[in-house]
Amino acid sequence: MRTLKVNLEDRSYPIYIGSDVSLDNELYSKHISSKKIALITNEQIADLYLSEISQTLNAFDLKTLVLPEGETEKNLETVGKAVEFLSDNGIDRDSSIIAFGGGVVGDITGFVASSYMRGIKFLQVPTTLLAQVDSSVGGKTGVNINTGKNLIGSFYQPSAVIADTRYLNSLEPNRLSEGLAEVIKYGLIRDEDFFKWLSKNTNRILALEPEIMTHLIERCCQIKAEIVSEDEREGSIRAILNYGHTFGHAIESLTDYSVYTHGEAVSIGMVMAASMAERMGMLSQDDKTDITRLLESVNLPTKKPDLNSNDFLESMKRDKKVQDGEIRLILLESIGRAIISNNYPNEILMETILE
Ligand code: GLY
Repeated sequence: MRTLKVNLEDRSYPIYIGSDVSLDNELYSKHISSKKIALITNEQIADLYLSEISQTLNAFDLKTLVLPEGETEKNLETVGKAVEFLSDNGIDRDSSIIAFGGGVVGDITGFVASSYMRGIKFLQVPTTLLAQVDSSVGGKTGVNINTGKNLIGSFYQPSAVIADTRYLNSLEPNRLSEGLAEVIKYGLIRDEDFFKWLSKNTNRILALEPEIMTHLIERCCQIKAEIVSEDEREGSIRAILNYGHTFGHAIESLTDYSVYTHGEAVSIGMVMAASMAERMGMLSQDDKTDITRLLESVNLPTKKPDLNSNDFLESMKRDKKVQDGEIRLILLESIGRAIISNNYPNEILMETILE
């Protein structure tokens, strides 16, 4: 087992990573001080893993809420249902909640934990690669409303993250690739050696070798922990974690969230951002080729679908990262070095969208 720490003064917490770590009951006892706890999960994870995790947690009085699966559940109605469940089951200020699932379960549970009784403790036990390397770490919680994704939410850090590679074996191939888009993002924004390591170990990653996956998750979480420790509430540097996301969100939204997974859209978005940096003379053509090749080697799309360019620009302008009408973009100077820019020629952005 590897252990990392997210350093945030009194909100600091560990991330435990490894094979079968989520079955170690001592890890929970270390971070939970009450007898009564709640676990929130979804139907698919409950079918596969609820009985074994309930067994691990048998020292607690466990109340379980199983939600239907999917991004469409990430709404205020589910939040209402969850807080009523907690209240009906006598979950109090000293209790903890465990988020057991992917990003949707983690985001809902974190938001519920941050608001129920003005905030109770929660732990993340992420079961998808995307959640293990990204959404379970760093305290972003929230749900969607009709006008946009994650528009209601909070920054609320968990008490611990327990990232167990055992759950990766039941991931659908496109869900694995989705997580790998975020993994590659970390190499692109912060660590060229990690990018090279990913390029060298693609086959072992796709085969989900536990040691390889443990190292991969550890490196991503280290990078994320460093960035979050520096800028918890995304006043500055944390924005680089959104590399490729502004383009990607436009693709997701213009295809009604039904054609691409989030990671697939981000993959195309990262190539668009690389093209833009190349046009601006920042990024070399070789770097752009290496980026495209690595994404394709883990079965991610890299070509923008045919979408109306004005709609695309309008959609980018609705992103949460827009400041005073200016789209802030994350651009690469080279693999491993990202900058935040609102100082780029608009024609180059338009050329990139039209490409
Ligand atoms: N997923 C980006 C962030 O946590 O800031």
